[in-house]
This record gives sequence, C-alpha cells and structure tokens, in this order.
Amino acid sequence: MARERIAAVRGMNDLLPAQAPLWEWFEARVADWVRSYGYQLIRTPVLEHTELFVRGIGEVTDIVEKEMYTFEARSSSEKLTLRPEFTAGTVRAAIEHSLTYDAPKRVWSMGPLFRHERPQRGRFRQFHQVNVEALGFTGPDIDAEQIAMLARLWKILGITSARLEINCLGQLEERARHRVDLISYFEQRRKLLDADSVRRLTTNPMRILDSKNPALTQLLADAPEITAYLSDASRRHFDGLQDLLNAAGVAFKVNARLVRGLDYYNLTVFEWITDELGSQGTLCGGGRYDPLIERLGGKPTPAIGFAIGVERVIECLTQAGHINDAAHVDVYVVHQGGVTAPRAFLAAEQLRDAGLDVICHAGEASLKSQMKKADTSGAEFAVIIGEDEVAADSATVKALRTPSAEQRIVPLQILADTLIDALVQADQ
Ligand code: HAM
Repeated sequence: MARERIAAVRGMNDLLPAQAPLWEWFEARVADWVRSYGYQLIRTPVLEHTELFVRGIGEVTDIVEKEMYTFEARSSSEKLTLRPEFTAGTVRAAIEHSLTYDAPKRVWSMGPLFRHERPQRGRFRQFHQVNVEALGFTGPDIDAEQIAMLARLWKILGITSARLEINCLGQLEERARHRVDLISYFEQRRKLLDADSVRRLTTNPMRILDSKNPALTQLLADAPEITAYLSDASRRHFDGLQDLLNAAGVAFKVNARLVRGLDYYNLTVFEWITDELGSQGTLCGGGRYDPLIERLGGKPTPAIGFAIGVERVIECLTQAGHINDAAHVDVYVVHQGGVTAPRAFLAAEQLRDAGLDVICHAGEASLKSQMKKADTSGAEFAVIIGEDEVAADSATVKALRTPSAEQRIVPLQILADTLIDALVQADQ
C-alpha cells in the first residue's frame, strides 16, 4: 500500500535546482558588494534564547506577540526561539565576543529567518535576508553610506523600480511626547479606529500610523507627525543625512509616517519599496538602533543596519526577465560499461584535477541515451570512452554546442589540455 506523502511545512519553500542559479548569481553579487564597503561575514545560530528577541525587538511588536516559533528545549525548561530577524542575534554575538572593543565593526549575514505570518505572495514563514549592521558609528555619514550602498546594489542587480522612503524617529524622550499627543488624538476619534488600532492604542500607538487599512487613510494623514517633536540634535542628524544623500544623487522621499515594526529604532529609519510586487513591496528595511546594545547588556554603542528580503528581490529579478541558465558543466564523460567504466571514472577524476567541471555517467545505459544526457546537461563536450578508446589509451571528444558536432580522437595524456584549449576557444 502506498504510504501517505509528507509535504513541506506551510509557508516554507524548497529552493529547487531550476531556481538555484539565480539565487547563486544574487548571492555572489551580494558577497562582492558587501566586501566593497568593508563588511565582514558573521554567522550566528538559528536558535537563540527567547528573551533575546523579547527584550531586543520589543514585547508589544507583532513579531514577539504573535509570530515567533518558540518552544521549550528537551533537557530543560529553557525557552528557545527560531530567529525572526538577524539584528538581535548579531548584537548578542557582538557583546558576547566584545567585537566593538577596539574599533567599530561592519558585519553582514545571509540566511533563513522564521515568522509565523499568514503566507501570501512575498510573505513566507521561512524566508531569507541579507542583513548588514554597522556597530559603533554615530552617523549620519554611515546612515547615508548604507543607503547609498543599497542604491548601488539595485544598480548592480538591474532593479530600477526600488524607491526610497526615509524618516527620523528622534530619541526616546521625543517619541514619548509624540506618543502622548498621538494617544489623545486617536482617543478623541476612537470610534473611527479598527479593532487592531484600538488594541495598539494602549500598547504601541505609533504602529497605528503603519496601518494599511484604507478606511484610516484620512485619519492617519491628519495625525500628529513625529517631525514636529524632534529636538535640534535629531533634526541636525536628519538634515545631515539628507544633505549627504542629495550630494550622492540618491533620490528619496521623507515619509513622516514611516515607523517600522521593530521597537529598537531611533533617529534614522528607511525602507526601499517597489510597486512591482503587490502588497508586499518592501524590498529592504532598516534604521539606527542606538539603544539596543545597551538594552541587551552591552556598553552604550550606537549602531545602524538594514535587511533585504531575498525572496522579494529574487521575484523582482524574475519578473524583469532575468534568466540564469541552469549551471552547466564543461564535460560529460560517457562509457560502454565493463572495462571502460573504471577508465571513464579515472579520466573524469583527472579532468577535475585539471580544474574542469565534469559529470561522469553513472550506472548502465546505451551510448545513445548517455549522449542525450550529455546534451541536456549543458556540457560543451562529451568525452566518449569505449573499448576501442581503452585499447588505444585515448578518448573521443565530441563538441556538443557547435553545429558541425565535430569529433576527434585524443590521447588520454593530453585530454585535459586539449579540452581546456577548446573551452577557451569556444568562449571567444
Ligand atoms: P524587517 O522590516 O522586519 O526588518 O524585515 C526586512 C525585510 O525582510 C522586509 O522588508 C522584507 O523584504 C523581508 N521580510 C520580512 N518578513 C518577511 C516574510 N515573512 N517573508 C518574506 N520576506 C520578509 C528587520 O528584520 C530588521 N532586523 C532590519 C534591520 C537590520 N534593522 C537594523 N538592522
């Protein structure tokens, strides 16, 4: 009796071989790009103590209230959480290993995150980010550099639809004064609010400004703006950032209602948005989080960072018709079984020693079916090792990508060199 199949967990995707070349292409561009700004790789565990995210991201955020994958460890009653973002873990590692002890640090990561959200286009329960953090910098020069860095990435990737929105959230005291007025504004109009906003009124009123409910548009447009509450120092920081962006030719829009969904931000926040992806159009979000390192037990250290949603960027690239052919090998080695199989096996190893990418046919099949496989593998050349070739210590080399399908016999000692020369020529 057939056993029941087990499917992937809802909202969690497989990256299949056909899509992998585009991901690999993207990841390679990203690795070059972060290096060109002096960022170094950091990899933190996928699991952290739940407390890290509760304290780091904030108790009354959507992530902590309802989206974390949290469970108890088997051996103790320790509560652990699959990371929903990179920043808290990066800061935890920086404190634990005194990373900013001697100098500020620029670090980056890439990998999977987990949030129990409602799966839809552009929103998954396991997704990936490229995360970039600059620890120990007061800005606004580094703020501008990170934003300009992103403008450069979109150019490298050929994404033309990304637009930038920025805001300044000020410092805690400034936000506290704004909060008082915001609560009183919404209290007076309580009957116009939806259920979610009423709940936020007592927990996190600023997040009401983030509501996507069209019925609230006018109410939100008339709400008190944080800009009016900024101190001179905050204003100078924001002006400094805008001057630098203007000087660098990076276009932006100030959106006074941009608040972000995590609690650790102060001063600069920003998002890059595209209209190409429907309702989940934010490609990247970030900002300054000067209070966080101290909140997690470190010495007060200013910092700023951002994260790019990889699935969303990949969808943008796919929509723009960005095609990456399946990764292909240089050579496909075919044989006739029997004594020819170990000879083919060895020849393939020697070709790999010489630096070539090689598939050696595995298992038994007719020469015809092997040649078909060689063709679909995308290899430039088939290397055929039959009984005649074994007897003559040679191989037959067949070009698979030229119309003439030229074929020649080559002694095994010079097989690698011959193929390398031919590949160089085919490339020209
Ligand atoms: P975030 O805004 O929560 O920020 O996420 C950043 C980006 O990750 C989003 O703009 C989106 O592209 C992508 N993303 C978030 N959730 C999902 C999801 N469920 N499915 C697919 N993509 C998603 C942060 O995570 C901050 N830690 C960024 C940061 C770094 N701030 C300072 N440093």
